[in-house]
Amino acid sequence: MENLNALAKTFLMAINQAQDLPALEDLRIQILGKKGEVTRLLKSLGSLDPIERKGQGQSINHLKDKLLQALTEKKEALAHEAMNKRMAQEQIDITLEGTPKRNGTIHPVSQTLEEVIAIFGDMGFRVAEGPEIEEDGKNFDALNIAPDHPARQEQDTFYFNPREDGTKMLLRTHTSPVQIRTMLNETPPIKIIAPGRVYRSDFDLTHTPMFHQVEGLYVGKGITMAHLKGCLISFLQTFFNNTALPIRFRPSYFPFTEPSAEVDIGCERHEGEFKIGTGQGWLEILGCGMVHPNVLENCDLDPKEYQGFAFGMGLERITMLKYGIPDLRTFFEGDLRWLHHYGFDFYQFPCLLNGLGHPCDDTSHEKGGAQ
Ligand code: PHE
Repeated sequence: MENLNALAKTFLMAINQAQDLPALEDLRIQILGKKGEVTRLLKSLGSLDPIERKGQGQSINHLKDKLLQALTEKKEALAHEAMNKRMAQEQIDITLEGTPKRNGTIHPVSQTLEEVIAIFGDMGFRVAEGPEIEEDGKNFDALNIAPDHPARQEQDTFYFNPREDGTKMLLRTHTSPVQIRTMLNETPPIKIIAPGRVYRSDFDLTHTPMFHQVEGLYVGKGITMAHLKGCLISFLQTFFNNTALPIRFRPSYFPFTEPSAEVDIGCERHEGEFKIGTGQGWLEILGCGMVHPNVLENCDLDPKEYQGFAFGMGLERITMLKYGIPDLRTFFEGDLRWLHHYGFDFYQFPCLLNGLGHPCDDTSHEKGGAQ
């Protein structure tokens, strides 16, 4: 008996002190396994006489139950402890900030282009396109631009090396060659707008080597300057969201239109700030005119039968005015901060017609270009 009590005490203590589940399993094998202490004791019962065996048997079974219970309880305690430890380690801090998801934005020029296409689309104009690498014949000659015209000088135009057949290719300097391409391929009535990239060797606050224009062309019978005026006034009032927008047609010169005009919109300049639609000042916004008879003839159209009007404007320029963006060069720097500031994910920027102004340097006037 003494022996069993001592054994119980030793094992209970060991069980109690077991550090982890593997250690406890070792103990179980040591106690109850095939060669374990208690198993050995039970086996030894066979050599005792029946009376002794009964008493000793009961004591050993009692000891076995007690140790088994202790092992089970300890196992549960250790499992519980292990689970608590794991839960503490794997805890998720739900107060941590999530990783923000940044959506891309629509570039202001793309947004303006969508608006322009929608407005002219309502007036029955469809979109036409032409190549950015253009023949100088279509960019200049067919448009009645004489070989000695300043626009043909190398410093304005990006030329490629001449081809073997003598054709000179260039990066188109305006979208007007799409007029030629369309008139050569289609019979009037023709009613198109032609948006796209154009290139000029120029770089300052209001000029970049690449920018976007949208060309307009309406050729048919009996088309007059009145149609041109009505169409452009309607476009500008809609685009700038102002039916009272002051608009002025000022006589001008383009080789491919006659008569030609530049269109100005009323604005106010105050301490470098710009406000569209009010004040005494004027800002040039596009070039236009009646398609020159020579241009119609160059496209095999009889000027006595057909007349037309054309216009061209810079997309960046009208975007800058509408959304108050001061520097043209920033359009093409790809600065994500700029894109997130001026880009559109929905119509979140109120048009600046009646409110905030912006600095703007109106130098394109002097250049006579629709930039
Ligand atoms: N192509 C001219 C420019 O780039 C603009 C224009 C187009 C003028 C059509 C009149 C008619 O400056």
